[in-house]
Amino acid sequence: MRIAIVSDLHANIEALSAVLEHINAQNIPDIVCLGDVIGYGPNPRECIKIMQNARFCLMGNHEEAVMFYGEDFNEKARQALEWTKEQLNSPDHDRTENYEMWNFLGGLEDKHLEGDVFYVHGSPRVPTKEYMVPTDIRNRDKMNEIFSMIPSLCFVGHSHIPGVFTDNFRFLSPDRIGGTYTHQGGKALINVGSVGQPRDGDPRSSYAVFDGRTVKFHRVEYDVRTTMDKIYATPGLPNYLADRLIVGR
Ligand SMILES: [Fe+2]
Repeated sequence: MRIAIVSDLHANIEALSAVLEHINAQNIPDIVCLGDVIGYGPNPRECIKIMQNARFCLMGNHEEAVMFYGEDFNEKARQALEWTKEQLNSPDHDRTENYEMWNFLGGLEDKHLEGDVFYVHGSPRVPTKEYMVPTDIRNRDKMNEIFSMIPSLCFVGHSHIPGVFTDNFRFLSPDRIGGTYTHQGGKALINVGSVGQPRDGDPRSSYAVFDGRTVKFHRVEYDVRTTMDKIYATPGLPNYLADRLIVGR
C-alpha cells in the first residue's frame, strides 16, 4: 500500500493544495504528516483543517511552540508564532472550531512506529527539535546513536532538506539517486523535505511516496507569488518569510 508522506507545510495553503492535487492524481488514499503544519505562513487554520483528516500527524517544533513557549525561537520565528496564536484564537471564527484546532494540536503524538518503520519530526533522539542535516554524516557519534534507535527505516522532516542518510554514513540527495530510493536491507533515515518552505535551493514543494520498500521523492510547483503576497500583506508576518520562498532557502 502506498502512502504519501508530507512535512513542514508551514501554513502554506497554496503549496499544500498543489501537493494534494499531485497525490490525488496518483490515487494515493493515505497521507501522513511529520509535523510543522503551522508556523511562518499565512494560512494555519486551513492547513490544520486538512491535516485533521491525515492518517496520522506528528507534533513539530512549531506545534510544540504554539502550545507551550518556543523559547528557542529566533525573533522572526517568534513574531510569526505570536501571529499564528492569534489566528487560532480568532474571535472571527466559531469558538468550537477554535477549540477543535487546539485539541488537535494538543493531541499530536511526537513519534509513531508502524511495523519497523519509524516516523518523527526531527530525529528519533529528540523528536521535535533535533535536526538531521547532510553534514551529520561526518558526525559518527551522532549517526551511530540515531541509527541505534531506528528499527529499519525512519522518516523525518524539520531540516526542510530532502534526502537519504544511510547506515554507512552517506547522504544521498534525491537528484543524485534519480528521485527514487529502494531499501535493500540495513537502515536508512529519510528526510522528505518541506511542502511549504523548501530550503535546498529549489522553491518547489517536496514530499515523498512510500510503498513499504521504495521511496519516491517528488517536487511540485505551486503559486509561490500568491503565498508571498499574502505574507507581505500581513503585518504580523516578517517579509523575510516571503522572500525566502522564491529562492527556496
Ligand atoms: Fe519546519
